[in-house]
Amino acid sequence: MMRRLCGGARVSIAVLAMTCIAVAQLSAQSGLTGNWAVENSNGDGAIRRSYFTLAQQGDSIHGSIRATQFFYRIKEGTGTADKFTIVGSMMDGTSERKVTYEGRLVGDSLLLATRRRATDTMLTRSVARRVPDGEGAMPARVALPARHTVKYNGLAKAPPMGWNSWNKFAGRVDDAAVRGMADAMASNGMRAVGYEYINIDDTWEGNRDAQGNITSNSKFPDMKALADYVHSKGLKLGIYSSPGPNTCAGYEGSHGHEVQDAKTFATWGIDYLKYDWCGARNMYTDEEMPAIYQIMGDALLATGRPIVYSLCQYGRLDVWKWGADVGGNLWRTTGDIRDAWDSMTRIGFSQNELSQYAKPGHWNDPDMLEIGNGAMTDDEYRTHMSLWAILAAPLLAGNDLRAMTPSTHAILTNRMVIAIDQDPLGKQGSRVRASAAGDQEIWTRQLADGATAVALFNRGTAAAPMKVRWADVGLGNHGAATDVWTLRRVDTAAPEYEALVPSHGVVMLRVAR
Ligand code: GLA
Repeated sequence: MMRRLCGGARVSIAVLAMTCIAVAQLSAQSGLTGNWAVENSNGDGAIRRSYFTLAQQGDSIHGSIRATQFFYRIKEGTGTADKFTIVGSMMDGTSERKVTYEGRLVGDSLLLATRRRATDTMLTRSVARRVPDGEGAMPARVALPARHTVKYNGLAKAPPMGWNSWNKFAGRVDDAAVRGMADAMASNGMRAVGYEYINIDDTWEGNRDAQGNITSNSKFPDMKALADYVHSKGLKLGIYSSPGPNTCAGYEGSHGHEVQDAKTFATWGIDYLKYDWCGARNMYTDEEMPAIYQIMGDALLATGRPIVYSLCQYGRLDVWKWGADVGGNLWRTTGDIRDAWDSMTRIGFSQNELSQYAKPGHWNDPDMLEIGNGAMTDDEYRTHMSLWAILAAPLLAGNDLRAMTPSTHAILTNRMVIAIDQDPLGKQGSRVRASAAGDQEIWTRQLADGATAVALFNRGTAAAPMKVRWADVGLGNHGAATDVWTLRRVDTAAPEYEALVPSHGVVMLRVAR
C-alpha cells in the first residue's frame, strides 16, 4: 500500500513508519549531537555525502567524520553550537592524516569550514543537515581470503597502450568525451601505432540499484552502448573502481560487491579495470592489501572475459613483489603524476630499482602520461616519452586527443620510441651512469633482437654535451645506430658518441647488435 505523507513522496507503510520514527528522532536531538550530512554534487545524479557524526558533552565533541574516501575519528573536539572546532585523525598505512573543521549551528544547519590543504589560505565552506542516525555508517570489513596465486590471464604481453581520462578531465569526463577520444584514436594514427585502450577513470559511478548492482551516473547514460561504440572503432574500453566503499573522488566503490561488479563490468563489455585503493585505506592495513586485491583478481578471472587488471595503490607494500600473484597485469609504483617537470622526473628517474620486477604480462606503472597537457615543453615531453619507453611503462596518453598540436602528436606516435616501449623481450631498462651532480643520466634497455636502447637525459638547466663510450654501456661490437627522435643514422665507428643534449631534453638511440 502506498501513501503520500511525510513530505508528499509516495512511500509504503513500512518505509513511512521508519521515516516517521527517524524524523521524530531528529527533532528530539538538539545541539550538535546527531548525524549530519553535506551533499557533494558533481551534477551527475550520483549521491555523494560527507557525514559528521557528533556527540556533544558540555564543550567537548566526540564522534567521526566521513568525507569522500576518508574516515576520521574526532581526536580533538571543543566548543559549543555557537563555535566549535573538530580535528579528525586517521591512520593511512603508517602515516597519520588529519582534518580540521570549524563550525557553528545556525537554525538546524551546521555551517562548516575547512582547508583542503594545510597550506590553503582560502577556506572551503559547506552546510550540513541532519540525517537519520546510522546513515553513512562505515560498512563491515570483507573477510580476507586465504592467499593463493591468481592464474595469469594471458593479457598485456606488452605494456598496455591507450588513453585515460583522469589527467585532463578528472570529474568532467562523460560519454561524449569518451566517444570523441575513440574517434580521434581510431582516425589520427594512434590506433595504427598500437594505442588500444580507452580508459574511463573515476567519476563515472552512479548509485547501486535495489539488487546492489552498480549503475553509471547521468554522464554515462548507457555503458554497454558506449563499450559497443568503442569496440566498433577497433578499440577497447577500460573502467575504474576501488576495493573501498568509496573511490578517491568519493563515488561508490566495489567494497562487498566485488564479484557482482566484475560480472557487471564483463556484461557491459569492459576490457580493463583500474582498481584504486582509495577508501580501502580506512578499513585495511597495508599488509592486508594483497588479499584484498586478490579478491578482484579472482572475480575478474571468473567472469571469463579477458580484462586487464591494473592495481593502483601508489606503490605501497612493495607491490612489485606481489602484484603479479594477485592477478595484476600492472601496478602503480608511486603517487599521482602532475603535468610538471618536477613531478614527472621525480617519478620517472626513481624507478631504477624496480627493473627486475617487470616482465611480459606484469608491468611497473609509473602513472599515466602528461604529454600535451600544456605545462611542460616539447623537450620535457620527449624526455617523458623516452623515459617511459626505457622503463617498459604503460603508455596511457592523458591529454585531449581531439585537440593535439602536431608536436604532441609526433611525440605520442613516434614508432621507434613505441617499439622500444613495446619490445617483446619485456626487459625494463635501468640507469648505467649518472654525472656527479646527478644532472646527466645514461639509461639503457636491452631489446629482443639484440639491439640496445641508449638514452642520454639532461636534467640540468643548460644544454650539455653528453658522451657515451660504447664499451661503458656494454656495446663492444655494436652495429648501426639510429637517433629515434631525429631518425638520423649515428656514426658508430668511433669508440664513443657525443651529443649536445638540450636542457631537460633527451637523445635516444637504438643501437643494433
Ligand atoms: C587516485 C589515482 C589517480 C586517479 C584518482 C581518481 O588519486 O591515483 O590516478 O585515478 O585517484 O580519483
